[in-house]
Amino acid sequence: MDQVWNVDGRVVVNWMTCDWEPYPAIDGGETDLMWHPVRAEPGPGDGTYLLKVAPGGGAKLHHHSGQEEFVVLDGELIDGDNTVLKTGDVVSYNPGTRHSTSSPKGCTLMVWIQKPIDTVEGDPQIAAMQEGRTIVNWKTADFERYPSLPETADPIDWHNIRANPQTGEGLSLINFLPGSSSSLHEHTGWEEFIMLSGELTDPDGMTYRTGDVVSLPPGSIHGSYSPNGCTTAVVIEKPLRTLL
Ligand SMILES: [Fe+2]
Ligand SMILES: [Fe+2]
Repeated sequence: MDQVWNVDGRVVVNWMTCDWEPYPAIDGGETDLMWHPVRAEPGPGDGTYLLKVAPGGGAKLHHHSGQEEFVVLDGELIDGDNTVLKTGDVVSYNPGTRHSTSSPKGCTLMVWIQKPIDTVEGDPQIAAMQEGRTIVNWKTADFERYPSLPETADPIDWHNIRANPQTGEGLSLINFLPGSSSSLHEHTGWEEFIMLSGELTDPDGMTYRTGDVVSLPPGSIHGSYSPNGCTTAVVIEKPLRTLL
């Protein structure tokens, strides 16, 4: 059979073993953040990256011009309204929100940010931030059957946080049941996910393990198989196309 999959340009990095470098802060004034860019440029604050906040560190008040989303991988992050974001929390902020954060004990985050962020001054606009924020802990979330699979596909469950059920576009938690696989599909934009538990194998034989962050460029074609089940948090930039 001809090879139909395409994972050219894929990046895989594990947050528990990767190296870290100082985060190139927007205003140059912060030294308490380290990062590992997955698909991000220094400066504007958008892209996909791992971020490590040293104890006592945090982010100044800033405005989100696009969606900002992250998973708390370890530690705790205190949001601007004093909400404690704990390990396992998956958090989404709508465009137009702003917040500052602090982390007395330190934390590590997997971050997806759609558009550049701007440090701002003045009113923190907390009510608007709360209105535009969603928090789901992946360990306690309710899952339901993923709606877009053809009837022959093995079962995959999901928790939709900010996703289009028809196209997969957006942020969701995906739970592969043991022995299940996703249908072969093509990505018209970026797909970037983190393995929260378990293992997942792509058609080229690459197995993603717990802690791996995977970035697949537009044009990627794959279907993944999980012998023992796994849970991921995924951001899909543009619609995916199922190939039958
Ligand atoms: Fe933010
Ligand atoms: Fe995919």
